[in-house]
Amino acid sequence: MYLLIPAAGIGRRLSAAWQQAPRNKLLLPLRNRPLLAWTLLAAEAAQSIRWIGIICQPTDQPDFAAIADTLSLSTPVHFITGGDTRQASVYNGLQALPAEAAQVLIHDGARCLSTPDLFDRCAAAFQSCKGFIAAVPVKDTIKQVNANRQIEHTPDRSRLWAAQTPQGFDVSLLKDCHRRGHDQGWAVTDDAALFEKCGLPVNIVEGEETNLKVTTPADLSIAELILKQRLRGTD
Ligand code: CTP
Ligand code: MG
Repeated sequence: MYLLIPAAGIGRRLSAAWQQAPRNKLLLPLRNRPLLAWTLLAAEAAQSIRWIGIICQPTDQPDFAAIADTLSLSTPVHFITGGDTRQASVYNGLQALPAEAAQVLIHDGARCLSTPDLFDRCAAAFQSCKGFIAAVPVKDTIKQVNANRQIEHTPDRSRLWAAQTPQGFDVSLLKDCHRRGHDQGWAVTDDAALFEKCGLPVNIVEGEETNLKVTTPADLSIAELILKQRLRGTD
């Protein structure tokens, strides 16, 4: 299975919370390793992943290459230049896949707590569908509000799922969706949204509650705690 890891962000929200200049959060230390290292170790440990493409800004590539070297991964790792948005980064990643890649998993570098089992369950989902995402049922009641922060609508929580990654797609269909999205000027925050806009079905694979996306300082603290618990006795 081919895996693309979008890693070309600038960690604006995390840096802003610390009143620091934007810096790629994937280079931040988490326990004893940079954040991206945890994502790579999970992918490496997954039986299904045979090829990894890290999509990054050229300025970060030397640091990311050093991280991959330190881990001595047996899975081949390739570097692809990212774009200004996640959508543009994934587009570049799709163009860089080998011609024989018919299916792809896309997993945010910032989701560093996903387990190898989740990658493998996602890879297996291609047996029954051409587009799917990992997701978990929403625990909070969600409110849709207007510009004045007045509630407009309370969607039925029993039908709401929080989208995660990995997300998996048939490569040629996803390429078509990205091209159409580009032509129509659609701006989306995940690839499933492009599939949906093109009228293609996207299924749910049961995700993991701990599979958080490190976005704010609180996420970083929670990720530290989860890793500490997982690694208890191993370090
Ligand atoms: N990403 C990317 N290319 C971009 C923007 C984001 O590959 N131009 C990646 C990030 O590196 C991250 C994933 O997409 O692994 C999810 O994005 P997000 O959590 O929003 O990360 P950042 O964009 O870095 O953070 P922020 O939005 O706070 O700046
Ligand atoms: Mg972002």
